[in-house]
Amino acid sequence: MTTDPVKLAPSILAADFAHLGDQVLEAERAGADRIHADVMDGHFVPNLSMGPMIIRSLRTVTRLPLEAHLMISNPDAFVDEFARAGVDSFLVHWEGNNNLSRTVRSIKALGKRVGVAINPATSAAVLEEILQDLDQVLVMTVNPGFGHQSFLHGTLPKITRARRMIDRIKPGCGLVVDGGIDAETAPLAVAAGADVLVAGSAIFNDGESVIAAMERLRSAIRL
Ligand code: DX5
Ligand code: ZN
Repeated sequence: MTTDPVKLAPSILAADFAHLGDQVLEAERAGADRIHADVMDGHFVPNLSMGPMIIRSLRTVTRLPLEAHLMISNPDAFVDEFARAGVDSFLVHWEGNNNLSRTVRSIKALGKRVGVAINPATSAAVLEEILQDLDQVLVMTVNPGFGHQSFLHGTLPKITRARRMIDRIKPGCGLVVDGGIDAETAPLAVAAGADVLVAGSAIFNDGESVIAAMERLRSAIRL
């Protein structure tokens, strides 16, 4: 049996919220690995998005794992509520968290998967001491806060550095990239070492169906 080693995580930030359940179901039928929900508080990033209510609603329509990417100033105050709403997996940022190990441990204590995200200006080296405790690492390929931004090519060498660190310290840890992923940039990120692609506007857009968009991304990374 062969399985596609690169996973697709559609980001619902770009979805049509009037038809969110249908769009998520379409992504599920098209073979999405998980649903990525971007949580923004207008403080950690200059944008507002969604809270646990959206997760609670989606929990009733899809069997896919729900992943919360917390771009908020105080993740510790909200992980319980998101977990109760049905989040399976959390991504928390290194930036601005003076007690990252505590945050990671409290998420693990809830029985959930945990990953740490780093912004474009943050070195992969900051992951070294925490990597052993993680299920995933997320290298941001845009500055967080908005969908529809252009992929920052300067992050590619960092993806490769993160890949080497994972292979050395925690083989099996996922290496996720997020931001500006489309049919042109996905192969670059995969060649650099990513094995999970978060994509918003390349999957949810007016130009094509979710199924067609995901197939286009998949063929772009097929060797
Ligand atoms: C940005 C978010 C991304 C965003 C990606 O802060 O973390 O998940 O939805 O959107 P695209 O794929 O449009 O760049
Ligand atoms: Zn995200």
